[in-house]
Amino acid sequence: MPRLSATSRHAVSFVLNGRSTTADAEPRMLLTDFLRHVLGLTGTHVGCEHGVCGACTIHIDGQPARACLTLAVQVDGASVRTIEDLAPEPGRLSVLQAAFRRHHALQCGFCTPGMLMSLDAYLAANPEPDEAELRKYLSGHLCRCTGYVPIVAAALDAAKRLREDTANA
Ligand code: FES
Ligand code: FES
Repeated sequence: MPRLSATSRHAVSFVLNGRSTTADAEPRMLLTDFLRHVLGLTGTHVGCEHGVCGACTIHIDGQPARACLTLAVQVDGASVRTIEDLAPEPGRLSVLQAAFRRHHALQCGFCTPGMLMSLDAYLAANPEPDEAELRKYLSGHLCRCTGYVPIVAAALDAAKRLREDTANA
């Protein structure tokens, strides 16, 4: 079996925000560092670095995941989506992002990318969210300044608007 050195580099080939991407990573490099420092996608934030705060949440193969608990080499062959891919086009917010703005659901914005990525996946799977369940789901995210009332209001508003968009499509 080949011996892996902690400082050797490995090519990681994956789909990043819809584009085939290949870049080198050391075996112990976290996905957060890979995204931010190797690939320049700094929208994924790093708070606790041990899976508690939710700031680093991204999608891996369509599921929300903590990038700080994932090694870069683990996404080889996977599809990764980050906050940079959430807006439908430059200068236009997604329905969820617009709801966050409308409800003042962010202040410093540090927790916001993780919140948005989690909620985007949650609302896709739960188009009619129950408020109590939504609050429980959001307990996996820490916000130190806004408080959760406007965040929950924004998520419920976005869910309603997404349902209306679907009905009118
Ligand atoms: S930085 Fe990943 S959960 Fe806090
Ligand atoms: S908006 Fe500042 S931590 Fe959530």
